[in-house]
Amino acid sequence: MLSVRALCTEYQTQKGPPVKAAQDVSFDVPKGKFFTLLGPSGCGKTTTLRSIAGLERPSSGEIEANQKIVYSSGKNLFVPPNKRNFGMVFQSYAIWPHMTVFSNAAFPLEVRKNKPSKQQIRDKVMSVLAAVQLDHLAERDATRLSGGQQQRLALARALVMEPEILLLDEPLSNLDAKLREAMRFELKRIQRENGLTTIYVTHDQGEALALSHEIAVMSEGRIVQIGAPRDIYNHPKTKFVADFIGTTNFLDGSVRAYDQEAARFRIDTPVGDMLVQSDTRFEAGTRVSIAIRPEDIELSDRDFPVDGNSNIYKGKIDTTVFLGDFVDVQVRLGNAMVQARSHPSLRAGEGDTINLRVKPEKCIAIVDESPTRKAA
Ligand SMILES: Nc1ncnc2c1ncn2[C@@H]1O[C@H](COP(=O)(O)OP(=O)(O)O)[C@@H](O)[C@H]1O
Ligand SMILES: [Mg+2]
Repeated sequence: MLSVRALCTEYQTQKGPPVKAAQDVSFDVPKGKFFTLLGPSGCGKTTTLRSIAGLERPSSGEIEANQKIVYSSGKNLFVPPNKRNFGMVFQSYAIWPHMTVFSNAAFPLEVRKNKPSKQQIRDKVMSVLAAVQLDHLAERDATRLSGGQQQRLALARALVMEPEILLLDEPLSNLDAKLREAMRFELKRIQRENGLTTIYVTHDQGEALALSHEIAVMSEGRIVQIGAPRDIYNHPKTKFVADFIGTTNFLDGSVRAYDQEAARFRIDTPVGDMLVQSDTRFEAGTRVSIAIRPEDIELSDRDFPVDGNSNIYKGKIDTTVFLGDFVDVQVRLGNAMVQARSHPSLRAGEGDTINLRVKPEKCIAIVDESPTRKAA
């Protein structure tokens, strides 16, 4: 449906070299799928989306939508944005005041060159308003809508043109937390019911995990990993991805030995030996970072049975934070501090000794030289 090949987009600056905002960006989005560009502020998400829309002119690459090339540096081809038939919703959506909900949604059709008949406009607008569940408010002044309703109206206005592809740039970021969560479900429903091929941009990993069929994680203008949400979460390829998608503990270590049969490594770490399961082969002596999610560290007041199959340690609780459904616990393990997520029934408190257990398949060994960075 949408294919982006080796896309590069640069911005010229007054002084100094051009900003390479998107570099060698490639991905494919099948029809009807929800694809997300995820990454910290400034990593090139908006640039990539605007390049797809035709609002930026890339320096090289190729973009194909619905078997039609809309941009190609090689073929010297650039289809202007209004000829691409994409719908767009931005972070700062504009609702026109002094206009009803209906007129707002009808506007793109009213200004169209081949303007449809009054009846056709009425039918189309009412059907998109129904899709975003605003049909009962069609005659209301658009400024008298809640934030979430205005956001849905912006979406309706993009949908009314029956776009082949929907491009959304952080459309939920102006909403408060509760509304944002509710709108996630709305968006997913609208996308699914209408079979919309959607490219979504966000810096919010929770949003990306919740909505997407596939996620591309970007850093410094490049895609660093593409995969299904579960895949990216469970098998991050770099420290950057592991750190950006959720909370992660990192322990540095050095590979001691490989047990071929079990596909397991024994790794020397500052907290002791650690068994790590991995399909990748690492040579003995390789320096690795071991990524472990807080929810994969089991805590117990009692000793775990030693079975040779799990990683078992003793630590000391530094801090606990009660969060209702669970407790976040900072545990001092030798010189390292790790974060674990536990059930509120855990009795041990700050200063107490605590037992930790981690399964080898929950430890992800990463060989990665790039520095770890967290988004703002
Ligand atoms: N119009 C512009 N002129 C110059 N530099 C820009 C312009 N727009 C964006 N940039 C730069 O390009 C990089 C990528 O920006 P952007 O695509 O907006 O990132 P994101 O959407 O991921 O936050 C940033 O370094 C940003 O400062
Ligand atoms: Mg942006």
